[in-house]
Amino acid sequence: MNYKEMVFSLNRIGIALGSETKLNNLFNLIVDEIIDFTNCDGCSLYITDLKKQELIFEATKTISLIRKDETSVFKSFSVPLDITSISGYTAITGETVNITDCYNIDNDKEYGFDKSYDVKTGYKTVSMLSVPMKSTDGITLGVIQLINNFDNDSNIVPFYSEFEQIILSLASQAAVALSNVRLLEANKNLYKALVKSFSQAIEERSPHTAGHSKRVAYISEMIANHINKKKEGVFANITFSEEKLEELKYAALLHDVGKVAVPENVLEKQNKLSDDEIEVITNRFETIKFSATHNMDNLEVIKETIDNIDDELSFIISKNLPGFISDEDKIKVREIGLKIFNDFDNSEHNHLTEKEVFMLTDFVKGNFSPDEWEKMKKHVSSTLDILKEVPFTDELKDIPKIAGAHHEMLDGSGYPLHLGEEKIMLQSRILAVADVFEALTAADRPYKKAVPLDRSLKIIGFMAKDGELDKELVNMFLDEKLYEIYLEDRDNDRIFV
Ligand SMILES: [Fe+2]
Ligand SMILES: [Fe+2]
Repeated sequence: MNYKEMVFSLNRIGIALGSETKLNNLFNLIVDEIIDFTNCDGCSLYITDLKKQELIFEATKTISLIRKDETSVFKSFSVPLDITSISGYTAITGETVNITDCYNIDNDKEYGFDKSYDVKTGYKTVSMLSVPMKSTDGITLGVIQLINNFDNDSNIVPFYSEFEQIILSLASQAAVALSNVRLLEANKNLYKALVKSFSQAIEERSPHTAGHSKRVAYISEMIANHINKKKEGVFANITFSEEKLEELKYAALLHDVGKVAVPENVLEKQNKLSDDEIEVITNRFETIKFSATHNMDNLEVIKETIDNIDDELSFIISKNLPGFISDEDKIKVREIGLKIFNDFDNSEHNHLTEKEVFMLTDFVKGNFSPDEWEKMKKHVSSTLDILKEVPFTDELKDIPKIAGAHHEMLDGSGYPLHLGEEKIMLQSRILAVADVFEALTAADRPYKKAVPLDRSLKIIGFMAKDGELDKELVNMFLDEKLYEIYLEDRDNDRIFV
């Protein structure tokens, strides 16, 4: 290699090392590039663990063993960080060690050659160059060892001393790349921790739906992974990269984070009226009974009157549960509400207040009044507002968009933005299917029974048919029985995200 070629090679290696983002890949890349560059037979890489005072053997490659097909599966191991080994000596002193023959090391040297690798593989290590990987602030992050240098006739020769500086600078480049990847990983871990805390905050706020986000993330990831396997059909050309899968998972874990902004009484609402409000009604009905019967003397009539009032109270209480109320029942609630009774001070009152009648008859969804439902729906815009403030990295930049559209429907009937089909990302559609299916099949809650599986499947089938959920996704979810895999994992505590 002439000087020009060498500079060119070093440059190229620098770029390659700088663009690697995964530690393991980086270790292997360093080893590969150094063998390529020097034309030596083998190279090993050790990383310093100062806390444990160890050197961890992270990557190795020996060309002649590969040729003989004698490589075994690489196993990481560690050696003590002390000067008795060549790698330890290099790491501690920061010195380059250039050995002509590993089996004839001068007795006055503090380090010795460990023959165990040679014994195990039948390999013969002769020359060795051991260089420290020094970071820009002079800390040795690891050690690179080059083994058996060849001359032009393929004879094993010592590593040329003029080579030492070049290898040392290559090792420094590797150290810089290592620092960068570590920083990147620390950054990723920080995001992971933040996402976990965020989603935990909402789970703790709403214990009745604990685990919902995790399960939605699990279903979403499962659907996306399934799409990745598709070789034909509408999803054949769609592939979620590792980063995009991670982005979807995070978006799913965070999709309901806006619920932290929903008032507690709405979030944890069980029935249309609270237990306290029902108690007030029950007490009032005692007064109603007294007021209706205190002037009566016919026992039978008294009993009949009391029974009638009790029946009305039972009817009111039965209509307090979340769910559909027929027009006929609405009229009956209103009629009961309009009845008048005299209180102990002789003042006149209705059997039910206007608010009570309203709460029992004019709810829009499950157990929510229109006002409460608006507050509940606002959790999506809050999710978007919260997530917009997070400076996500480029790979995760769509998290707010994906999470913020989990209640959007393809026909524009969703909320908060009434986005239509063309504006809803596939990831949000996946999230919507997962969210609906999880909520339907979630275990019984105090105010909501789990919907039986066959009914849940019918419901999401109808939602797809009606143009709310993505038909292709729902068909895949149903036809390929993805729901079975999820339910089995859920019921066996195998929901790990
Ligand atoms: Fe939601
Ligand atoms: Fe949700």
